[in-house]
Amino acid sequence: MNETPKQLFDSINALFENVSLKELKTINLELSKKYKKQKHNFFSSDKERLSYIASRMPATTKAIEYSLNEIKNITPKISIKSVLDLGSGSGATLWALLSIFTSENGKLKTDFPRTFLVEKDEKMIFYAKELLKNVKGISKKVTFGKNDILRVKNYDFDLLMLSYVANELKNFQIDKIIKRWVFSKSKVIVFIEPGTKYGFKNIKYIRDFLIKKGCNLIAPCPNTLKCPMPKNDWCHFYVRVKRSKIHKYLKGGTLGYEDEKFSYVIATKEKVKYPKARILRFVKKTKQDISFTLCKDGKVLNEKVSRKGKKRDKIIEKLNWGDVFDV
Ligand SMILES: C[S@@+](CC[C@H](N)C(=O)[O-])C[C@H]1O[C@@H](n2cnc3c(N)ncnc32)[C@H](O)[C@@H]1O
Repeated sequence: MNETPKQLFDSINALFENVSLKELKTINLELSKKYKKQKHNFFSSDKERLSYIASRMPATTKAIEYSLNEIKNITPKISIKSVLDLGSGSGATLWALLSIFTSENGKLKTDFPRTFLVEKDEKMIFYAKELLKNVKGISKKVTFGKNDILRVKNYDFDLLMLSYVANELKNFQIDKIIKRWVFSKSKVIVFIEPGTKYGFKNIKYIRDFLIKKGCNLIAPCPNTLKCPMPKNDWCHFYVRVKRSKIHKYLKGGTLGYEDEKFSYVIATKEKVKYPKARILRFVKKTKQDISFTLCKDGKVLNEKVSRKGKKRDKIIEKLNWGDVFDV
């Protein structure tokens, strides 16, 4: 498991020093119910904001980090020097960037992207700043803007990130954002949503609109053909996230980690060398062979590869759910 930065857990813990966790637990339950009902207008109280930070932010940070790694893996020539984060909440995108652009000695790498975070909820901006206050050097790289994301006109940032925000937007607003992005100088756009039937419905809508506008897809789709996912199924992936003490208290359970399921799409206006396929489920292994569920050539299909002695098996043995299947 690629660990959540300890500094994020420490910062979250510090935020909760004077907060009653008992009260938060009830709020957390209510927030989860709301989330399951796909209700809009998320944060109606300060406790809801704090509950989101403790129970959701480490997971959304990991999902964002995953998407950033996909950009690097599939389109290594695209360099990300600037990021516009729309609906930035408590700053998950920044923490994902910190995971990637921090050196082993703890210092920010010199190529840490210039990042502009836009959020309408002033209190969320306050918490994002609080969480970052002990991260040395970050203030030079980051600008916060309190605004409605639909009013943002300048998209000329290499990467546009919308993580767990589309759920709070109407389709015509999503269209508007995509159209604006298509005409900007931005290279890459990322949308991430919960890995649920409803989250995927949003992502599929976004995917289809991006293709209609002539975009290429970096991930997860291995082509721009019609999405082959059957009606009652949904395309999703997962990241394993370490659980903090507060997280365990709020959400119950004893496991040291949780799996965050998410659906996502990354598009670009630049050319993409598409892989053959993407692995859509856990890989099943027997002594004889390995079975993959793949998205390939506009179909969801199962493919078995023999484990007997071929050279390419070494690559295949390491493949996992979410990886490209390009052998
Ligand atoms: C579920 S949170 C996600 C936060 C963060 N992106 C993450 O991945 O953890 C959604 C955030 O988007 C913000 N938001 C939703 N619609 C917005 C709008 N029209 N303008 C600005 N912010 C918006 C909400 O206030 C909230 O903080």
